[in-house]
Amino acid sequence: MERLSEIVEGKARIRVPPGVFFNPEMRLCRDYSVLAINAALKGRKGVRTVDATAATGVRAIRYAKECGNIIGSVFLVDINSSAAKAAAANVKLNKLKKAKVVKASFAKFCESGDAMEGFGLIELDPFGSPVPLLYDAARASRGGTLLSVTATDMAVLCGAHSAACIKNYQAKPLNNEYCHEAAVRILLGKIARTVSEFNFGVKPVASLSYLHYVKVFVLLEEGAEKAVESLKTLGFAAHCNKCLNREWRKGIANSLPAKCPECGASYEYGGPLWLGEIHDGKVLAGMLKGAKEEKLAKILRLQLGEAGMPPFYYDLHALCKKAGCRAAKPETVIEKLRKAGFKAVPVHFRFNSVKTDAPARKVGLAVR
Ligand SMILES: C[S@@+](CC[C@H](N)C(=O)[O-])C[C@H]1O[C@@H](n2cnc3c(N)ncnc32)[C@H](O)[C@@H]1O
Ligand SMILES: [Zn+2]
Repeated sequence: MERLSEIVEGKARIRVPPGVFFNPEMRLCRDYSVLAINAALKGRKGVRTVDATAATGVRAIRYAKECGNIIGSVFLVDINSSAAKAAAANVKLNKLKKAKVVKASFAKFCESGDAMEGFGLIELDPFGSPVPLLYDAARASRGGTLLSVTATDMAVLCGAHSAACIKNYQAKPLNNEYCHEAAVRILLGKIARTVSEFNFGVKPVASLSYLHYVKVFVLLEEGAEKAVESLKTLGFAAHCNKCLNREWRKGIANSLPAKCPECGASYEYGGPLWLGEIHDGKVLAGMLKGAKEEKLAKILRLQLGEAGMPPFYYDLHALCKKAGCRAAKPETVIEKLRKAGFKAVPVHFRFNSVKTDAPARKVGLAVR
């Protein structure tokens, strides 16, 4: 048999046979995930872990080798037999103890004896939407479980395929300049609604939007009251495509006005989506301490700025286009808004965008 070349990523050595999925571009996401797990599960030991969509096993192997004593028994699951074989070979290559590779669908695995005790860390990194795996993940969760969820169906979540988003996430997407943040919030909303049926509330601790995917880390809090509390954090957003004004309101029914109070145009709606915090500043600060690469540290610093800010950033390019003025620099706009007494920060979602508590009208004035 031909010898496969070896990839070294973090502390893992990985061999990728033909037909088994491995995307080197997802390294940043895996680096981010290692940091998120270390920070969110700090102080825990021997956490039972399942990588539901293991492919080569790179994630599970990196988590086991790079998260100290946090990770206990690790299960690597993949429906594809070539992937399961590759994961088993990589587990051996990396001398992982307490690791078991299972060739099965995640649903089938969740019915097996291995899953009966539940898991403290569940990794969902499928092709496209993670929704088909969420119910099984909720069933295999316990109080304090950390869900690590990737979605690569950005065209759906960002509203290019609105009907597919309604079908898969039961949420209307927003196909506008802040669709990447709306995508994170639609995904978090879907996770909150799914786990609530199993008596869990959600606490998002870190949310990343990068290239063609979003990745969220969510701690589950046990109890019916927690579940209800989370559902009360869901709501709807209204966006005015004419003047870029936006509003949002929590609640299970859309109680937003039909028309934009600024210009009278009809609002476009998005939701239901998560309107609470998408990051936990303490977790992000812990992640930042561990970040070795400047690229990742920069993202984390921007996300730290986002923590505690209202939903939905302003894209300065879109505002300048509406205002008919030359492109405004985020630093200049941020300074103007701060001088006027508002909070304002750059964002990781999109270059040339800012988050602020100022109304759209004031941001529109600040770009001129
Ligand atoms: C995007 S790849 C995973 C990539 C991997 N986490 C990484 O970082 O390289 C998705 C994998 O999930 C597997 N898969 C898809 N649906 C599955 C299911 N229902 N249960 C288990 N594995 C599944 C596929 O065979 C594929 O190997
Ligand atoms: Zn308007």
